[in-house]
Amino acid sequence: MKQFKYKPAHKTVEDLIPYQTGKPIDEVAREMGLGKIVKLASNENPLGLSPLAREAAQSALERVNRYPDGGTYELRNKLAEKHQVSPEMIVLGNGSNEILELLVQLLPGEDEETLYGWPAFIVYRLATLAHGAKGVEIPLDHRLRHDLKSMAAAVTSKTRIVFVANPNNPTGTYVTRTELEQFMAQLPEHVLVVLDEAYYEYAEHLDDYPDGMDLFREGRSIVVTRTFSKVYGLAGLRIGYAVMPEPLAQLLNRIRQPFNVNFIAQVAAAAAMEDEEFLSRSVSLNRIEMDRLTDALERMGLNVIPSAANFLLIDLKGRSGDEVCRGLLERGIIVRPMAPYGLPKTVRVTVGLEEENDLFLSALAEII
Ligand SMILES: Cc1ncc(COP(=O)(O)O)c(C=O)c1O
Repeated sequence: MKQFKYKPAHKTVEDLIPYQTGKPIDEVAREMGLGKIVKLASNENPLGLSPLAREAAQSALERVNRYPDGGTYELRNKLAEKHQVSPEMIVLGNGSNEILELLVQLLPGEDEETLYGWPAFIVYRLATLAHGAKGVEIPLDHRLRHDLKSMAAAVTSKTRIVFVANPNNPTGTYVTRTELEQFMAQLPEHVLVVLDEAYYEYAEHLDDYPDGMDLFREGRSIVVTRTFSKVYGLAGLRIGYAVMPEPLAQLLNRIRQPFNVNFIAQVAAAAAMEDEEFLSRSVSLNRIEMDRLTDALERMGLNVIPSAANFLLIDLKGRSGDEVCRGLLERGIIVRPMAPYGLPKTVRVTVGLEEENDLFLSALAEII
């Protein structure tokens, strides 16, 4: 083959290290020659999906010869009612990931900046580099929480977006309503705050945890993103959404794909919203099992970062995260190494079912 001579438009793409997804179950089963695999690597709902969503998805299958509703009319209206905003303020995406990506595509130019904590959700970095902008990364504080004071101080005339994942991934830590309000009050108008609430439902019971939708309804110019991938159990269907000022929604609607959210996802998400029993069962399982995991890990002499989400960041007290992950993988358990996030002596584990967590704990005990 002749030498490949095409260069990306943005040089930053050359520095981009692709997103490492949690290893797929089938791949691990094949590689390790194991039957039973426990995947605790991608913060999915271990209970599966709501029976109502399953039924809706199954019947939607009959209609996949047709294009979906590109305007996601029904679901947008349902979400608008839930959040008490106008349907024109809601944009749906192929996962909330797509909306994060579209915002970066839309706002910062080549010599402009996005700002986010580090480590935080790695897509902020990837989207920024993919679109030729500069990512300004502000280290988390000593408790692995967003350092909002340093973030506010790092804002320049070039900053276009500030991402705040609340709770944050991979740490599970959160910022309080007072902290967030003080932070936002300091930001100049040219900066858009994107509040990423992918794990909102797991944190909402905490007294000082801010609901981004409240802040939005109070008239702040922010974007709040949420997803159906976590507590709603629909990660594989790829559907998420954001609430934002209407003029911004209009701009995003210009640049998104016309049919960016597939039909099965739209229908299943609408049904999942109705299933309160499944949602509360999912949240309470998470809380019980997270406490149990935390206790057991601490008894092993490990440090656990207090989490408001559905995963735990475990400080391995000097042991290599890659090695611990490898040992677990040999025993059929997939967790996430954190070296790509600059935390090589930690691993992140998703809270699973009781029996999955037990398998994880006993495998870990063997390794360390
Ligand atoms: C903080 C955070 N934001 C956004 C996402 C993206 O979720 P999705 O694209 O599945 O909606 C994730 C997924 O892990 C996440 O952890």
